[in-house]
Amino acid sequence: MRILLTGAAGFIGSHLCEQLLGRGDTVLGLDSFDDFYDPAIKRRNLQEAQTHPQFRLVEGDIRNGELLEQIFAEHRFDCVIHLGARAGVRPSIAQPLLYQDVNLRGTNQLLEAMRKAGCRKLVFASSSSVYGNNSKVPFSEKDPVDHPISPYAATKKAGELMCHSYHHLFGMACACLRFFTVYGPRQRPEMGIAKFVRSIDRGEELVLFGDGSSRRDYTWIEDILQGITKVLDSDFSWDVVNLGESRTTTLIELVGHMEKALGKKARLRHVDMQPGDVLQTFADLEHARRTYGYDPQTTVAKGIPDYVDWYRAHS
Ligand SMILES: NC(=O)c1ccc[n+]([C@@H]2O[C@H](COP(=O)([O-])OP(=O)(O)OC[C@H]3O[C@@H](n4cnc5c(N)ncnc54)[C@H](O)[C@@H]3O)[C@@H](O)[C@H]2O)c1
Repeated sequence: MRILLTGAAGFIGSHLCEQLLGRGDTVLGLDSFDDFYDPAIKRRNLQEAQTHPQFRLVEGDIRNGELLEQIFAEHRFDCVIHLGARAGVRPSIAQPLLYQDVNLRGTNQLLEAMRKAGCRKLVFASSSSVYGNNSKVPFSEKDPVDHPISPYAATKKAGELMCHSYHHLFGMACACLRFFTVYGPRQRPEMGIAKFVRSIDRGEELVLFGDGSSRRDYTWIEDILQGITKVLDSDFSWDVVNLGESRTTTLIELVGHMEKALGKKARLRHVDMQPGDVLQTFADLEHARRTYGYDPQTTVAKGIPDYVDWYRAHS
């Protein structure tokens, strides 16, 4: 398959590049190397992919319509996988207009370029954050998602809606994948697991938001890749799909797994829950399993020690 992959240099994008290249796909990676976190990390992320003859990197912004038109004029793609975005809930509260611009206008630019070029298949990275503080668990794709509690979540929901309008008007096949907190090697340095492991290892104080009882469905990177590729290889028309593990872990339990893997005790300091943070996430995977054969494998009891092994080898 010939694939345009936005956000190729990021945490999930760089792993996906390697997976797609490994199975014979041709990948054009588009990434702006923005400074949300150190761009040098992103350059390292792509080192392996860049040795592959079927990989090409374009450094640029999805909001640049001219650049997109040029890319689509020079290449034909069977599918676009759109991961490029400003990620993260808390920073979106400080910079809502930037998040709106990159995540919604950027997605719209991409959809326009696809429409003009006649490219008709899109996989869009949405997020479990669209479920807000829904109290019914597990979260199903059929549940209402009309009450996002952060600008980031609102931009992801808005991105899904924009995809739907292009599906309706122009027959574009779109699959919006709602990722549930993804972790593993190369995880973004500002994400909880990466920060916590660093703090515990260095003996630094670890600030926990809330009393430690908030729950997350943590998804190992290999499982997310499995989900993305299973959907990519399917013949969808319009779909919204949860990709998680369908197991939840409290913050305190998560810290316990890290302490065990690192052989060190955490120095905890509890502070209030942060605005924008949801109390729980929990994926209902019935649709993903039934329709796409998604079958995630990795519990945090296995994933956290594996992440710590990677962290030790790279710090
Ligand atoms: N990691 C998670 O737990 C998680 C959960 C839910 C959804 N997601 C979504 O998955 C996608 C990938 O997340 P990630 O964790 O790999 O994040 P990441 O920040 O590591 O990767 C995003 C990449 O997009 C690039 N980018 C940002 N703005 C761009 C622009 N305007 N033009 C081109 N490229 C741009 C960045 O440089 C970065 O390399 C994002 O859309 C994110 O919102 C991630």
